[in-house]
Amino acid sequence: MQTSRTMYLETYGCQMNMADSEIVLSIMRDAGFVRTNFLSRADVALINTCAVRENAEQRIIGRLGDFNHYKKSNPDVIIGVLGCMAERVRRNLMVSEDFVDLIVGPDEYRKLPALVEAAMEGEKGIAVKLSRIEKYDDIIPFRTEGLSAWISIMRGCDKFCTFCVVPFTRGRERSRSQANILKEVEEVSQRGFKEVTLLGQNVNSYWDGTNDFPDLLAAVAEVDLSMRIRFMTSHPQDMSDKLITTIASRSNICNSIHLPVQSGSDRILDLMNRTYTIDQYLFLVRKIKEAIPAISLSTDIITGFPTETEDDHRQTINLLRTVEYDGAYTFKYSPRENTKAWSMGDDVPEEVKNSRLSEVIDIQRNISLHRNKTMVGQTIEVLVEGPSKKSAADFCGRTDTNKMVVFPKNGDAIGNYVDVRIERANSATLFGTQEHVFHQSPAAITQAS
Ligand code: SAH
Ligand code: SF4
Ligand code: F3S
Repeated sequence: MQTSRTMYLETYGCQMNMADSEIVLSIMRDAGFVRTNFLSRADVALINTCAVRENAEQRIIGRLGDFNHYKKSNPDVIIGVLGCMAERVRRNLMVSEDFVDLIVGPDEYRKLPALVEAAMEGEKGIAVKLSRIEKYDDIIPFRTEGLSAWISIMRGCDKFCTFCVVPFTRGRERSRSQANILKEVEEVSQRGFKEVTLLGQNVNSYWDGTNDFPDLLAAVAEVDLSMRIRFMTSHPQDMSDKLITTIASRSNICNSIHLPVQSGSDRILDLMNRTYTIDQYLFLVRKIKEAIPAISLSTDIITGFPTETEDDHRQTINLLRTVEYDGAYTFKYSPRENTKAWSMGDDVPEEVKNSRLSEVIDIQRNISLHRNKTMVGQTIEVLVEGPSKKSAADFCGRTDTNKMVVFPKNGDAIGNYVDVRIERANSATLFGTQEHVFHQSPAAITQAS
């Protein structure tokens, strides 16, 4: 009877949440649920949520309205809220959204099938305990076929940046064992995936009792030399020389590091508890660029953190110009209850936050454009992902530095590496022509730096 029951799952937030959804799908499949891609056919409708900024939560509340609407036409449907917002708002979410049947935090997904059963009997359920040990290490995530696989290598975060809700929604840091991660990498390699991204809020502090992150990364890279290995996120404080050497010495570890700086002002970094100064950060950036000249760096920036002055903001702009990132994710500061920064107030007016944000975006767009233009004339290796979204006559794919490349189709190259000569670029995309027939392993050519 159970096998005919359907579940629908929608995911918000970061890649860790995407990876968690694959764990949820695996747990639910083992309990006899079949996935549907249509909310309108679901017996159980789940939403895996993010709490990192106020607008992330508002979007979810908006979407829950659609779930409620569906429930009105189908009162038997079970509605469950999972993930970081479930963990943060807890029971209050059931009070404000009274149609919600289940609230389940990131460390309690094993309980989902039992909670769903109980909900089907009319009993609402809530499970939001954070764990110091849960890693879902024994669960093989439910992955649909594709080129790119996400693999969580750790959970939680101990950094407590003062603006950030993640340590409260995901609890203390814990790492999976290297052996189990390698098993998972072997499995995705055998299934034909071409790219693995190792995930953690701060992968650089990975430690399984024997192996550190460079050990893990080197071992993962060995599993299948035809697979590209990526990782995120790196906290600047824990980025070791050993890690830089490991990236530099393996051709299938991508030349791409996401190294969030958050602000260019030492005073603000201190208030954020980021534990480094701009001098230390720039020293690190120089070391990385010397060891890996073809490196692509990206960052996260917050504008309008409490007390941020025009001068602090100018320092952020200067930093963008000094580092010349390939890309930046930019956010307006959003106060989160119970974080340390919450008690610092939210004194930067909305319009100032907005104008600083637009300036950061504009300046970074020009830097990205400049960086991309330096690629014109080079021949670059691209992993072909599929047809370009904008034109059926073109393929799109990515460079090892994670840049999107669009080029005219020339044979069936999806899932293979091709060499593309870059002819023009905008701030987001490179355009070119395929030069040679495809090959099956990365790094057959070396990029000019
Ligand atoms: N662990 C990662 C990313 C965590 S969340 C890291 O350390 O970088 C992703 C990004 O969201 C952060 O890097 C930060 O730039 C942004 N962010 C987190 N909390 C925020 C808040 N309260 N307001 C605005 N942006 C925030
Ligand atoms: Fe949040 Fe800082 Fe941890 Fe990143 S390192 S998840 S920003 S507390
Ligand atoms: Fe990720 Fe959002 Fe949670 S960024 S860790 S899903 S708060």
